[in-house]
Amino acid sequence: MPNFKCKTLKEIQLPFEKEGVEFLWMAKGENVDLLFTRIEQENFFLQIKKDVKNHTWLIKGEKHTKPSQIGYLQKALLVFKENFTQDVVCEAVALKHTRLIQKTPLIANDLKEILEQIQDKKQIYIEIGFGSGRHLLYQARQNPDVLIIGIEIYTPALEQVAKLALSEKLNNILLIETDARLLLSVLESNLVDKIFLHFPVPWDKKPHRRVVGINFANECARVLKESGQFELRTDSFLYFDFTLETFLNFSHLKALIKKNENLEISSKYEDRWKRQNKDIYDLIISGFGWSEALNKDQKFAIEELCFDSKELKSIEEKFKNEVFKGEDFFLHFEKMYLKDESLLIKIAFGAFYKSEHMYINLSCNGVNFVFDKPFKTKENLKAIEKLREILYSYTK
Ligand SMILES: C[S@@+](CC[C@H](N)C(=O)[O-])C[C@H]1O[C@@H](n2cnc3c(N)ncnc32)[C@H](O)[C@@H]1O
Repeated sequence: MPNFKCKTLKEIQLPFEKEGVEFLWMAKGENVDLLFTRIEQENFFLQIKKDVKNHTWLIKGEKHTKPSQIGYLQKALLVFKENFTQDVVCEAVALKHTRLIQKTPLIANDLKEILEQIQDKKQIYIEIGFGSGRHLLYQARQNPDVLIIGIEIYTPALEQVAKLALSEKLNNILLIETDARLLLSVLESNLVDKIFLHFPVPWDKKPHRRVVGINFANECARVLKESGQFELRTDSFLYFDFTLETFLNFSHLKALIKKNENLEISSKYEDRWKRQNKDIYDLIISGFGWSEALNKDQKFAIEELCFDSKELKSIEEKFKNEVFKGEDFFLHFEKMYLKDESLLIKIAFGAFYKSEHMYINLSCNGVNFVFDKPFKTKENLKAIEKLREILYSYTK
């Protein structure tokens, strides 16, 4: 990550604008200040950290508000360095102009944009954890009219498969870097034709870490069309059995089971298991009914909150770094910063498998998320309800 260290900070008058970089406001923490920075449409924080021992300042991007392209961060650091610092002791900020424009085609990260992009697609297949991508690319070749969405958490796999798809000129592929459970929970209902889960990590000794679980099954049932199907292919009998049992919680479903069926395409993992003469199980679940649309009208519980200056003072005094755990969500109060008359609080929250890190601004005019709002997953809604409850208790 680009950063630099300096011995002297000059006085910072805000707002400030130069070469398309805007510094708008600053929030002050114990040893770290945050500088709200804007370039084009992107907002993020620069972090100014005091190293008391070495009498230096470390300036870098705040890791949870990074802009989409590293070039923006480099540019903001260069402008900050030239205008507000002296005696730079070391730096790693070199700006490569290509980094400002380069994004790997076919890979999308902005879930909100993705949801808009795919809502009117006629046919959608999703492959969860596509790895080397053999099966995903095969599906794309076989079904040129279907949008094939690949979900992965391993960045090199996304980049590798994007390159292969581009070299074959396959344009019906969209690769998304996220946890499959998060994507499923925000997709519109009755949208998807097929969900493939091929050779997931078995976690035979720690089943709670599996992608499949009752919430996952509920979300599959919700996002799949009435004619849709979920397909598991695995070498782990325990995973197969666990998935069957999970889906058997539904009262009306059909399950088709196959053993050692040869498909036209074999993935890297499949090849490995076949060389070891392992059995391969297919479980194909269909018969999902029609599902209610996602409720988009729900609001985050803090959106109508408002504190007077006495309450804000009380929150400031009582704030401490602490974690709250619910059955399926958590909320972590991480840090607090002071900004003029308001408070800025950094929290981590959400489902245990997918935490969000966000900043919340509390002022006499209201309470709001500083950057984008989080997705309205049920875990996020519950965590923010808990946040409301605790903030309220801090005012007493
Ligand atoms: C054992 S590999 C199988 C890859 C591929 N399906 C195959 O058959 O060769 C499992 C893959 O799932 C990905 N993965 C694990 N958990 C995931 C999750 N929650 N969401 C999306 N991908 C995930 C891993 O990064 C890994 O690439």
